[in-house]
Amino acid sequence: MIKITRRIVLLSFLLPALISCTDSPEQDKNKENPYAAEVDSVLGLMTLEEKIGQTVLFTSGWDVTGPSMDDNYKEYLENGSVGAVFNAFTTKYNRELQKIAVEHTRLGIPLLFGYDVIHGHRTIFPIPLGESASWDLELMEKTARIAAVEASAEGINWTFAPMVDIARDARWGRIAEGAGEDTYLGSLIARARVKGFQGDDLSADNTILACAKHYAAYGAALSGRDYNTVDMSENELRTTYLPPFKAALDAGVATFMNSFNDLNGVPATGNNFLLRNILKGDWKFNGFVVTDYTSMNEMVAHGYARDDKHAGEIAMNAGVDMDMQGGIYMKYLKKSIEEGKVSETDLDDAVRRILEMKFRLGLFDDPYRYMDETREKEEVLNKEHLAVARDAARKSMVLLKNDNEVLPLSSDSKVALIGPLVKDEKNIIGNWAAAGDRGGTAVSVFEAFEERLGTDNFLYAEGCKVLGEDISGFKEAVSAAGKADVVVMVVGELEGMTGEAASRTDINIPGRQKQLIEAIKETGKPVVLVLMNGRPLTLEWENETADAILEAWWPGTMGGHAIADVLYGDYNPSGKLTVSFPRAVGQLPLFYNHKNTGRPIKPEDPDQKYVSRYLYTPNTPLYPFGYGLSYTTFAYDVVTDKKSLTPGDTLTITAKVTNTGERDGEETVQLYVHDKVASITPPVKELKRFRKIFLRKGESKNVTFSLSAEDLKFYNQDLEWVYEPGAFEFFVGGSSDLPFTHTFELAEK
Ligand code: GLC
Repeated sequence: MIKITRRIVLLSFLLPALISCTDSPEQDKNKENPYAAEVDSVLGLMTLEEKIGQTVLFTSGWDVTGPSMDDNYKEYLENGSVGAVFNAFTTKYNRELQKIAVEHTRLGIPLLFGYDVIHGHRTIFPIPLGESASWDLELMEKTARIAAVEASAEGINWTFAPMVDIARDARWGRIAEGAGEDTYLGSLIARARVKGFQGDDLSADNTILACAKHYAAYGAALSGRDYNTVDMSENELRTTYLPPFKAALDAGVATFMNSFNDLNGVPATGNNFLLRNILKGDWKFNGFVVTDYTSMNEMVAHGYARDDKHAGEIAMNAGVDMDMQGGIYMKYLKKSIEEGKVSETDLDDAVRRILEMKFRLGLFDDPYRYMDETREKEEVLNKEHLAVARDAARKSMVLLKNDNEVLPLSSDSKVALIGPLVKDEKNIIGNWAAAGDRGGTAVSVFEAFEERLGTDNFLYAEGCKVLGEDISGFKEAVSAAGKADVVVMVVGELEGMTGEAASRTDINIPGRQKQLIEAIKETGKPVVLVLMNGRPLTLEWENETADAILEAWWPGTMGGHAIADVLYGDYNPSGKLTVSFPRAVGQLPLFYNHKNTGRPIKPEDPDQKYVSRYLYTPNTPLYPFGYGLSYTTFAYDVVTDKKSLTPGDTLTITAKVTNTGERDGEETVQLYVHDKVASITPPVKELKRFRKIFLRKGESKNVTFSLSAEDLKFYNQDLEWVYEPGAFEFFVGGSSDLPFTHTFELAEK
């Protein structure tokens, strides 16, 4: 039994080098793979079966995140036919599994342990769509860092995050997991999250491999129906959907995950164009690619593979390195290689990529590095992490409406808390909360009010459930409202109504909640809606009916406290939407950076019939991208340093922003630019810069943005990344739905 330790690896590597005594050119080429030599020496010791074992990923018996599960994984570990396990954690359990691999197999190659640590491990932060509304990149890097610290303290060394899919269709439940509809913002957030998970040193015991998913264009599923077909031009793919993946790659992301969908007729899991041409070719990705849960097998259902064995050949030839839960590489790859359907060279490349990451994690030095009981006790759910969770939740919330300054609540107002989510501690941590506790760790709104006001100093009634037709609780709710000065209603979706396999054909507040709101409104008391949901909802009636609306998303472990902090003004809400909220589901997909069409609605003739419009519904969203109110107000005064920009030069835009209200607050200053004429029809506007600033009441600050010709590039008809001279206009403000205020020319070279 040869046990692979770093010493043996180095010895096997050093011997040939000592003999050759030359610094082969290959060693230079491997600078981006610091362990290339060690990897090669291990590879040289491996049998075909052992190589195939490294490409196999199985779930443990702890959690099911997909349609099938194979519970024989332990015996596979013993004979080296599995190289990674997911949905397994705690140091005790993972140490047990690692011990099998390291001490009971011939080479003792350590396992990877993957898990969906999407928005926290035990301390759960707001769902990613919520967190993105903070527009606070440092915060999002910090919460990913904490997620990695907690996950790595429980035996996990790989997360299947960040999800970087651009999403413009609120029917799609997985819009909850991403960073919204904008490519520029989504790319910056992808980078922040990768850096948070991976830190600066993957060999540290509190950093873990990240995974850019779902590659690619999964968020463009036809009709917003999960797993559905995706078909788009290469220009649209490169303009809108690929950049966040490239940003993750440039941030050093260690792994990619295929998406379930087909793209232009070719399943992503067997897509040479995506994997070999772009990812491993143009982009020179040196990490490894894992399928999504049995997505390899699903190429048979796609009608793209005859059977599982054929699917495996397609996938390996296309550049897929690891098979999640499909069992195909394990069962058929040996035969496919023997038949010449797959080359062992491609298998070697896959294994190299996987071993490289195991070396980078330090697993060959210490396979039990991520299984430290002391860290597990100290790191998980500690008070520092909970404080960040509360801060992240507050900063993610978006104030959508606040008539007559009904918010913030006065501490001497009698409040009635009404609604099915007031006492919720289960849904509040949202979907994809993996190891998050749904049994009482999270702070409900009710608990937060109890702590803040005392049990006897506010009223409560559930009113109704989230789903269902029972309205027997209305009477009690109306009675509670009648005794209060103001009513706070906590309503929305169940967490399982968003996330994977959770598309909806209507995106209203479900069940009898709207009727409950109506009944409470009829009491004449001011009504504040607090929404807990994972996607944009259609809220036109609520927008007319409620006096204030606070979008809280699924705010996480400290959600109740964060909601109370915002309602009482301890924190002045600063969130800005990163997805458009439609007026009607029929408007979807809906996004701010849309095209103008040849027949736009003309402001000077808004009722003209023959234009691109709907009957009876405006084209505009109810709440636009970039929008969010504050308890204060801000004024802008914008100047530029030139009217004509020459390529190679920069245009400097200075916005003097003043807090014109009575409260300190934060504003996300946004710059939108419109290319008025281009050889590809241009979007009506595009977010090009933003900065979040804090202003005391009455305070002013200058925010300066620099633009160059590089920032004005797009893919032309030949898919060249170019800028074109011509007229541009822009504005700077606190939302995307503001008028343009300035113009400039981009001059010829
Ligand atoms: C799921 C999801 C993917 C997740 C994986 C493992 O089907 O699509 O996002 O990482 O399986 O749980």
